Amino acid sequence: MKKLAALFLFLAMSVQAQNVRALKDVMEDMGSAYKIVTLNVTLGNLGPKTQSESDTIVKTIRESMNIMPDTILSLPNIEQEAAKQSYLKHLKEAESLAIELNNAIKSQDSAKAKDLVQKLNASKKSGHKEFKN
Ligand code: HEM
Repeated sequence: MKKLAALFLFLAMSVQAQNVRALKDVMEDMGSAYKIVTLNVTLGNLGPKTQSESDTIVKTIRESMNIMPDTILSLPNIEQEAAKQSYLKHLKEAESLAIELNNAIKSQDSAKAKDLVQKLNASKKSGHKEFKN
């Protein structure tokens, strides 16, 4: 009995150590940051708040790479690997756009930032079309 309790404790601690959040929560954070960045970039405000929210977009995109969506987990095993590669490809594209956006904001390049906000929106739409229920 003690061994069983120890095993449960060990498993609970391992799960906590991985500290993996639900994709929904990560995407929620990405969505809030993206809203603020979009609004501020439209207004031409590339200040510290816009910069830090833009950092959050990059961070949450990276975090999403470690969490598979339900739309992939519910596929037959044989289809999961290809879907996972496609998911990562979408996120890598979003990541490179978010890094470019981050650089444009930090260098106060408003025109470039506006363009990249649009491109990131297109990347989001195509990711959601393929993987979001
Ligand atoms: C700037 C880019 C993106 C933004 C701002 C964004 C934002 C969001 C938001 C607000 C949600 C809804 C969260 C909720 O249910 O409350 C969501 C869900 C989701 N997004 Fe994104 N997203 C982006 C890019 C992507 C990309 C590139 C992918 C796929 C490669 C993706 C995959 C998903 C999936 C699978 C869900 C459903 C999560 C779940 O409920 O389990 N997203 N996203």
